[in-house]
Amino acid sequence: MSNLLVTGGAGFIGANFVHYWLRQHPADRVVVLDALTYAGNRANLAALEGQSNFAFVTGSITDAALVEELLRRERLDTIVHFAAESHVDRSIHGPDAFIQTNIVGTHTLLTCARKVWMLEGAMPQHRFHHVSTDEVYGSLGPHDPAFTESTAYAPNSPYSASKAASDHLVRAYHHTYGLQVTTSNCSNNYGPFHFPEKLIPLMIVNILRGQALPVYGDGRNIRDWLYVTDHCRGIEAILTRGRVGHVYNIGGGVECENILLVRSLCRIADETFARDPDLCARYPQSLAAQGKSSASLIQYVTDRPGHDRRYAIDCQKIRAELGYEATVTLEAGLRMTFDWYVNNSAWWQSVMDGSYRSWIKQNYSA
Ligand code: NAD
Ligand code: DAU
Repeated sequence: MSNLLVTGGAGFIGANFVHYWLRQHPADRVVVLDALTYAGNRANLAALEGQSNFAFVTGSITDAALVEELLRRERLDTIVHFAAESHVDRSIHGPDAFIQTNIVGTHTLLTCARKVWMLEGAMPQHRFHHVSTDEVYGSLGPHDPAFTESTAYAPNSPYSASKAASDHLVRAYHHTYGLQVTTSNCSNNYGPFHFPEKLIPLMIVNILRGQALPVYGDGRNIRDWLYVTDHCRGIEAILTRGRVGHVYNIGGGVECENILLVRSLCRIADETFARDPDLCARYPQSLAAQGKSSASLIQYVTDRPGHDRRYAIDCQKIRAELGYEATVTLEAGLRMTFDWYVNNSAWWQSVMDGSYRSWIKQNYSA
């Protein structure tokens, strides 16, 4: 039995992880700590409210007193650290929050964990798992080998630089103080609860609303896509079987150019609408409902400054050591994701117009 602190558990991957973990490990207890920034939504965890193995605390990872109190009071032995500013475009327009949360916040968690678990002697067996990104390795050329755990760091955006700094701090707390850490560097995730500022959910909601699909630059940048539940399985493998002090890359092994990905989503939309007249009535503004091709909404727009060209993950280490494989194909994952957004329009409409905030205020006092 474990008592987990999941930071950023109201965000996209964190919420999927909390649901996944409590399904797989119902005897464990999960305390979520989340500052509920624009990307955090307590409603993502609404199905768990009231369960004795789940608690939600609104607060920041930069608040050392709060973190220490939670570690002591809840006798937490594991931290799974998702909380972050996560959107590259936002980091280009305003890097300060990224430095504060991703670097200062991670350092605050590390100091609190060391203090309570090690200096106060409360938890000789513990684990600090840091959730990081493949973006720390920089950008690959078309024929470069995929990123391994020993690829040199070369972050290119304020976001990836702040994540790189946090990775180094986690490594240093193990090397210097013996804190029991693991780190995962993962490729691009997609699935339910993904905030509609990122490529896949933005394209889906724009297809449904009949709005332009903005593709940056020439659309030939490549990402390695992983369905979010497969990421959760990878973190579970590391938490349960991974070696302390080690880093594991997690990826889907599915490289795809952005323009091909967007075209796939358009094809899935057109096929799904053609099979289901009910959808045409629910989303009359979509081109698919009008019998037209969703792909005609694609618009090439000005590129992202410093846009990384290609990411690809070499999963050999986690496969060989922990027997981990991604299980969801890109086609199956895109179809499940498309269906989720089609069936959860209230969710994406409320996060996009911010009205979920007043709903949260009315429903939760903590
Ligand atoms: P997200 O933006 O959807 O969620 C981030 C969560 O962190 C939100 O709930 C937010 O409220 C919370 N948060 C922000 N600042 C906080 C603070 N100071 N204190 C407490 N909570 C705070 O992000 P995501 O896409 O779910 O990413 C989660 C983690 O996974 C991040 O660390 C990210 O770097 C990493 N990651 C993401 C991807 C991806 O494709 N999305 C891939 C690899 C790694
Ligand atoms: O690789 C892991 C990273 O993946 C995570 O660490 C980040 O938190 C996560 O946001 C994601 O970063 P990206 O920048 O790769 O994801 P995003 O969805 O923003 O963009 C994916 C690709 O699509 C990228 O090449 C930029 C492009 N794009 C994005 C948007 C939002 C477009 O062409 N148009 C768009 O409107």
